[in-house]
Amino acid sequence: MALLKIAVAAAALALALATIRAGAAGEATLGGAAGASGRYFGAALDPDALDERPYRELAATQLTCVTPENAMKWGSVEPLRGEYDWDRADALVAFAKAHGQKVRGHTLVWHSQLPLWLINGAFSPDELRSLMVAHIAAEAGRYRGAIYAWDVVNEPFTDDGNWRNSIWREAMGPDYVAIALKAARAADPDAKLYVNDYNVESAGPKMRALYDFVASLKRDGVPIDGVGLQSHFVAGKTPADFVAVVQKFASLGVDVAVTELDIRIRLPADDKALAAQADDYASVVRACRETPRCVGVTTWGITDDRSWVPSFFSGYGAALPFDENYRPKPAVAAIIDGFTEKAP
Ligand code: G3I
Repeated sequence: MALLKIAVAAAALALALATIRAGAAGEATLGGAAGASGRYFGAALDPDALDERPYRELAATQLTCVTPENAMKWGSVEPLRGEYDWDRADALVAFAKAHGQKVRGHTLVWHSQLPLWLINGAFSPDELRSLMVAHIAAEAGRYRGAIYAWDVVNEPFTDDGNWRNSIWREAMGPDYVAIALKAARAADPDAKLYVNDYNVESAGPKMRALYDFVASLKRDGVPIDGVGLQSHFVAGKTPADFVAVVQKFASLGVDVAVTELDIRIRLPADDKALAAQADDYASVVRACRETPRCVGVTTWGITDDRSWVPSFFSGYGAALPFDENYRPKPAVAAIIDGFTEKAP
């Protein structure tokens, strides 16, 4: 059954890649179109799926940047204390190198997907600080020179703009972010260092908290190079002020990246919903293109059969540019146009 699905997907992919409509600059791939505007187009990938030919070919041909969806998280790389498993992360970095793609590392310090030994370890604040710094040194050090940008700290705020509670914040207060950024700079001086969050793509308390915080990091001389806007959207409800928010973060003198874009649809996805989704993808790409410091767009997955959305948002799905049979949805042409069309 799985083999049949792969064979069907392979046939669909061959047809799809041959029929993707070229954009205004003659670019027929997402990565090529983004490149025509001086940016990258990336996606979060599952290294295990790279063994499947249709997935691998789509990733190899469409993307100029890759992000491990889960493979670089702490729980993945050090499930037991002192026992590292870098295999899947290494595989993704090797894939990117073989295909001339950038890598966005995701993520060094987060409240989620932590190993149980760490959560349940009853460590003192000093021990947690040492563990965090050592983890950053180990992981960012291992991939030194191979990572274009690190999501050093992921999701530090709550929706109401307060500091999210985590073992890191409990141990060090908000200073944990600056400590992590400095440790990341020391481990890999050439990687761009980001703070990454969701629900910050529209003006509101969380967006203002992140903006004020990044401004304070800049003032204090803490190494911060970029802000990641995750951008998990619903078709037809992409924030109207998205471009203003992208530009506002860029005005702080940092890079901005769309780091986890997906645009979910209430299922079943009909033509009207797919068209609305395509418009939304194009508007996100245009917002990035209109902002010189917006360096690229990454989608959270590439095909609908491997998206986190259906298992987290009941009744929703079809959030990515390619469908579950690896065929391009209207979003693909819209993204290509968004990157390549002449400015009005
Ligand atoms: O690997 C195990 C597998 O061994 C086990 O059998 C299976 C049973 O549930 O679980 C597997 O782990 C799952 C993992 O994804 C890998 O598939 C976890 O349960 C599941 O919780 C985990 O979800 C990931 C989620 O982060 C965790 O919070 C999603 O794939 C991933 O897309 C999602 O990514 C996050 C970003 O890192 C940060 N921003 C939000 C974004 C979406 O939630």
